[in-house]
Amino acid sequence: MNPKPEPLCVEDFERLAEDRLERVAWDYYRSGAWGETTVAANRSAWTRLWLRPRCAVDVSARDPSTDLLGYRLPCPLLVAPTALHRMAHPEGEVATARGAGDRGVPLVLSSLSTCTVEEVAAVARSPLWMQIYVSQDRGFTRALAQRAQAAGCRGLMVTVDTPVWGVRERDIHNGFRVPDGMRMANLERPGAPTGHAGRGIGEALGWTIDASLTWKDLEALRSAVQIPVLVKGVLRGDDAVRAIDHGASGVVVSNHGGRQLDGALPTAEALPEVVAALAGRAPVIVDGGIRRGIDILRALAMGAAAVQVGRPVLWGLAADGAQGVSRVLGMLQAEFSLAMALAGCRSVAEVTPDLLHRSPGTLAHF
Ligand SMILES: Cc1cc2nc3c(=O)[nH]c(=O)nc-3n(C[C@H](O)[C@H](O)[C@H](O)COP(=O)(O)O)c2cc1C
Repeated sequence: MNPKPEPLCVEDFERLAEDRLERVAWDYYRSGAWGETTVAANRSAWTRLWLRPRCAVDVSARDPSTDLLGYRLPCPLLVAPTALHRMAHPEGEVATARGAGDRGVPLVLSSLSTCTVEEVAAVARSPLWMQIYVSQDRGFTRALAQRAQAAGCRGLMVTVDTPVWGVRERDIHNGFRVPDGMRMANLERPGAPTGHAGRGIGEALGWTIDASLTWKDLEALRSAVQIPVLVKGVLRGDDAVRAIDHGASGVVVSNHGGRQLDGALPTAEALPEVVAALAGRAPVIVDGGIRRGIDILRALAMGAAAVQVGRPVLWGLAADGAQGVSRVLGMLQAEFSLAMALAGCRSVAEVTPDLLHRSPGTLAHF
């Protein structure tokens, strides 16, 4: 029998993860809300953007690095915040941080992590950020933001697309609960449920989000810390402008990987409107369905400063812990550098909108 072929791309790691993970965990990670139409559309929207490569440019020396909020990154790539990494690997977010550190990729730690922010900060070798949900207990949210700053986080990412939890039917079918022995490490407070009960994650962790969230909460959080605060989960130009007007240092165009409002537009479609509305006032990051280096090229050509990946990191973590995370991120970095060469770009500054073929109906706002 032939040995299993080495994984060459993110999709190969996805298959490995499917083999390794228990069904309940695999479904939790891959699922989206309701009919999962946005999950599928996130991926297909990138693949519909055809590229117009430049030829006969000397690309023998290329520099895929970029500046983001004062940091020089080796590649315009970040790890998106995703919950519950110990379901993928016993070392959880500590392993993810090690893998990201290997590649110099910033890690945005989910507030629903299974290791504490301090444990992760202790091993982080690349910039660490923390994602924050505005909880019903505003004092708790403020304290968590300050705790993240004290632990060494270089920024916060406040998620605004989750006034209530999206309905993930696979989790309900599976009776999903946070596995015994696993902690919501940053969210422990006396008397609060820990996620060991309830239907899906939503019921047990209801207090960690709040349907009354508004832009005022962003201002309050902004004034509670000295590090930059980004807003994650905008899909419209007007919301992006509001985010910056209320003190955000940047926005993340995201539909939560299709896990919140099913039917929300794919992020590749939302990005041009947001970029146009902000007109360079603040960096725009985008996530959702990025699986290839060419997707990073596409996003930058549309005006994004950087991209984030969520599930690909979980596939790497499930397949091979820190090493798997490092390999997935390294593949995306290598693919991006090759995509730059093949498109005739020597630097990120040369990844410009003319690389995209603007066929009618492909890009609503472009
Ligand atoms: C399993 C899982 C858990 C997630 N947990 C969080 C979270 O705790 N906070 C958050 O802001 N976003 C969360 N997200 C959304 C991601 O940050 C990101 O927007 C999304 O995964 C990007 O899409 P991709 O998975 O296609 O790369 C989660 C996504 C997944 C798949």
